[in-house]
Amino acid sequence: MITVRRSGASDAPALVALAEQVAREGGGWILTTDSWRSVGEERRYLRAARRHPDACVLVAEVDGQVVARLSLARDPHPASRHVADLGVMVAEHHRHQGIGTRLLEEAVEWARSAGISKLELHVFPWNEPALRLYESFGFEREGYRKEHYARDGGYIDAILMAYRVT
Ligand SMILES: CC(C)(COP(=O)(O)OP(=O)(O)OC[C@H]1O[C@@H](n2cnc3c(N)ncnc32)[C@H](O)[C@@H]1OP(=O)(O)O)[C@@H](O)C(=O)NCCC(=O)NCCS
Repeated sequence: MITVRRSGASDAPALVALAEQVAREGGGWILTTDSWRSVGEERRYLRAARRHPDACVLVAEVDGQVVARLSLARDPHPASRHVADLGVMVAEHHRHQGIGTRLLEEAVEWARSAGISKLELHVFPWNEPALRLYESFGFEREGYRKEHYARDGGYIDAILMAYRVT
């Protein structure tokens, strides 16, 4: 059974392990390949996110084990406070079970309650599973960012996507 909840500082070890696993997969799914936060840094980040009204970290558990995370952060600029940036990852052996979709549904609930009307994210052009998830959920492609992220001594492109929270 899948449960989704707000994360707390005690999730730090599980979330660092999850990020490291996904980074090691070799698909280049996420921006970080070798420099995720340490457990201590993650704990501080989660504590701060829990207290901050403009941030939210959700985790999904299966049989009491954390298998996925979704992070949201409101844009700090006064003219774009209605926008929040989103990132999501699901452990390899728990994909295609609707967990990513469940997390997005909860993210939309949080955004609505925080007065956020637009969610945005960047996705690498080769990340087909993520593109399918976002498009089937209702995200639209808003742009193509050329050489937007630094990686392996060069720069890589990203697709900008957004979802209207109604
Ligand atoms: C992208 C990612 C988050 C998707 O998570 P997920 O939990 O697999 O997503 P869902 O299960 O909700 O949906 C994904 C697909 O599984 C399908 N699915 C959902 N439930 C299913 C089920 N019970 N059986 C089979 N397929 C199912 C969905 O229909 C969707 O299929 P489609 O891709 O053919 O449209 C996950 O692949 C991941 O973490 N990848 C690595 C990190 C990453 O890329 N993060 C995003 C960075 S931008």
